[in-house]
Formats: sequence, C-alpha cells, structure tokens
Amino acid sequence: MRISVVGSGYVGLVAGACFAELGHEVIVVDNDSRKLKALERGEIPIHERFLPELMARHHRRRVKFSGDLTDAVRASSAIFIAVGTPPTEQGEVDLSYVESVAREIASAITSYKVVVEKSTVPVYTSNWIRTVMLRNGASRDLFDVASNPEFLREGTAVTDFLYPDRIVLGADSPRCVSLLREVYQQLENGTYYREQFAIPGPDNASTPPPVIVTTTQSAELIKHASNAFLAMKISFVNAVASISEAVGADVQQVCQGMGSDSRIGSRFLNPSIGYGGSCFPKDLMAFRAVARECAYDFRLLDEVIRINEDQRKRFLQKVRSALWTLKGKRLGVLGLAFKGGTDDIRESPAVLTVQALLKEGCTISAYDPAAMNRAREVLGSSIEFAPDAYQAAKQADALLILTEWQEFATLALPRLHSLLKYPIVVDGRNLYDPLIMVEHGFTYYSIGRQAVAPESYAAGVAARGSRQTSI
Ligand code: UGA
Repeated sequence: MRISVVGSGYVGLVAGACFAELGHEVIVVDNDSRKLKALERGEIPIHERFLPELMARHHRRRVKFSGDLTDAVRASSAIFIAVGTPPTEQGEVDLSYVESVAREIASAITSYKVVVEKSTVPVYTSNWIRTVMLRNGASRDLFDVASNPEFLREGTAVTDFLYPDRIVLGADSPRCVSLLREVYQQLENGTYYREQFAIPGPDNASTPPPVIVTTTQSAELIKHASNAFLAMKISFVNAVASISEAVGADVQQVCQGMGSDSRIGSRFLNPSIGYGGSCFPKDLMAFRAVARECAYDFRLLDEVIRINEDQRKRFLQKVRSALWTLKGKRLGVLGLAFKGGTDDIRESPAVLTVQALLKEGCTISAYDPAAMNRAREVLGSSIEFAPDAYQAAKQADALLILTEWQEFATLALPRLHSLLKYPIVVDGRNLYDPLIMVEHGFTYYSIGRQAVAPESYAAGVAARGSRQTSI
C-alpha cells in the first residue's frame, strides 16, 4: 500500500520506517527543509534502537522523504498525521499543526483516502479533523478519519511498533476498518514474525498481536487513559516507596510481591525520581483538561502529578541528608535523559534535578551515554560534561544516579570508590543492591529502601552477627 506519514518527528519517523518494513511504500512528509535534507542524506536525528537498521534497509527504496504534501496525499491510500501536538500554557494541547495539515489534505484529495491520527490527541480531534476537511472542500464520500494511537516508548519504539501488545483501530466505517487492517496485515496474520530478517522482538512478546477495533472516540480515549494509568502506577509505587522508607520496608520486595499478582503486573513498578518525557507529563495535563471540559473533576490525576513533583523534592532532601549543606559541593551526575535508552531530555527529571542542585550552589560534572548534546543546549556551561561515568565521579563529594541506563547498573565499584572524594552514592533509580554497595564501602541512599553505610554495617554485623545495615 502507498502510505504517507506527515511529520518526521519521533513518531512519524518510526512509523514510516516500520510501515516500510511491513512492505508498504512510504512517503514521509515534513515542511522543515533542513530536516528533510538531513534525512535524505541518511542522517537519523533521534537515538532509537533498530531505526538505523530499518533506514538502511528501506531508505530510497520503500521510504522517501518529501516536502510536498499534496503530491504525497494524491499518491497514498492512507495518510497518517504524526505532527507535533505541544502543550499550551493552560495545559491543553495545541492542535494547530494538526488542523493545518487537515486543511492541506482536504484541498489535495481527489479519490478515497483514510486520514489517520497518529499523534496523541484529545478525544474529539477526529471529529474536528473531519469538520475542517469538509469546510475546506473535501467531499464527504472521499475520506474517512480514523484514530490509530501509538504506544511506542522512546528507546524501544521500533520493537514496540512491530511487537505491540495490541493494535487499536478507531474507525467509524467498514471500508476504513478494512483499509487499516491491510496496513497492519503482516502483524495481524503473523507473517512478519516468520520472516528471516524480521527485527527481533522482546522475550515476552506475544505474537500475533490482537487487533482491537473501536469507535474513533474510544481509540482517542484509550491512548490518554493508558498513559494516565501508567503514570498513576509510577506515582503509586513512588508513594509506596516513601512509606517503605518510613516503616523500614524495602520497596523492591514490596514491588516483587505486588507485581507477581497478574492483575497488577510487575512492569512500570520501578520507583524513581519521577516520570518525565514528552508524553506522560503532557498527556496527564491534557487528559485533565479533557475531563474538566466534560465537567468531570479528575482529582486522581492531580494527585498523580503532585506525587511526581514531590518525588524530585524528596530526592533533593535525600542528597541534603547525605551531604548536610549543598553550597559548594561537587556532585557527579549519571544520566540526563528522561529515561535510559534515549537522548531525549524533554521534561527530564534528571535535568530538573540538576537545575535545582545548581540553584543550591552545587558544582556538577555529568555524564549521559546519549543525551549530552541535547543537554548542552539546555544547560550550556552551567555544568561540566564528563566523557564517561568514572570521570563524572572523579573527586565528587557524592555520585547521583538520575537515569536508568543499563550501563550505570554495571559500574566497576572498586574503581568508582577510588575516584570519589567521599564514597557516597545517591541512587534515584535503585540500580544497585544496598548490601553490595555497603560491602564495597559505599554509603548508599536509594528510593524506598533504608540508607546504608559501612560504619553501621560493620557495627550491625559485629553486634548481631547479622547483615543489618541501615543508618
Ligand atoms: C510513554 C508510554 O510508555 C508509551 O506507551 C507511549 O506510547 C508514549 O509514552 C507516548 O505517549 O508517546 P515514553 O514516554 O517513551 O513512553 O517512556 P516510558 O518508558 O513510558 O517512561 C516514562 C517515564 O516514566 C520515564 O521518565 C521513566 O524513567 C519513568 N518510569 C517508567 C518510572 O519512573 N518507573 C517505571 O517503572 C517506568
């Protein structure tokens, strides 16, 4: 099938490459000519696993880049809108890019097309797209508007696309549903998974994925409600972490116990310095705004957002309790991206924490495997950028772990110990076992677990013959 994807951001680029992988001819359209030229040259602007492989396979064969939306629309049966939907100051979503794309599509249509929302948008956006297209002269029987939300996580977006838990097709006519099913046919009938060169899926992938056909409104709600629920799960576990600290429990054990109830599930139960990124913070605000418009006071979402903000404050308090005063302290920071596996720093709790520490008068040397360039744009020369994790730790009063990069979980502890001025680690992602840290001579603070220190460990072992370690 010929498909156009409008918008070459993170969703558009991944969707375009994956549609090509499923055998379709794809035109990725963008109005930013600099970006288009870079893509044409084969440059990939985002750090996303398997995207370089897919581009190497399909660029100039099944994936083309273009600035001409009219031509792309005329050549395609389905047009996926994946343009930016930034937040407004009121916490709503700015849909002006979606609207202008809908207007342009309307004036280009000469035969039946399916126009699909792929960007995360509030409920009723599909109605508005339909209205705008009709107002701009598109004939009612020449198009359908559908909602096909994406559930891609940055860093694993390609495998999330090709091995999804479900494919949601929100469409209001049988013709539209059957065209969308054709787009995903190779996934729905499982042929993709038998291909020799298929991108490998995660261990827990269950294939083929179910296809859930809904109304457009339901599909739009599924996306917002899913993100809000996942953010709620994180805030819930972060609240449980605070209680665990207070009562002397270990939140990791609590999560293991909770997560093995299949109704709860163990994923998205990792305590942290809070969720960030371009999706959860924005989508929660937008969902709250949608609720407000429907006269529903969704206070649960207020609380999810509040707990998330508190989590960063609690972390700062932890750093204070490790170091007493902060002014003039030198801190090593591991991680600037909003999560591991990406170079994205939008709404990154790591960057927000760094900024708060700078305000307190700390000096910071930070390292991130992928997000340094982007962080430099925001933090400039206010911090030092270290070439690796060990250099970031060198002569620091304490080391802070702010992003859950896998490589931060496997550091050479003796080397780290010898580099730090004081062997203090404040871990905002629970990457280490407190016992192992204390056995390596670290004073170690984490989330939802007791802080441990070598002195109290030695005293505990001597007094009780046990491995009691809390301070
Ligand atoms: C999220 C959703 O997971 C995707 O399903 C959705 O498609 C996407 O938003 C979107 O709307 O486009 P993403 O923002 O890439 O994906 O990142 P997540 O993996 O969900 O992580 C979000 C934040 O929560 C990160 O800051 C991460 O560190 C944090 N997190 C995640 C935790 O603190 N604990 C966890 O257990 C999981």
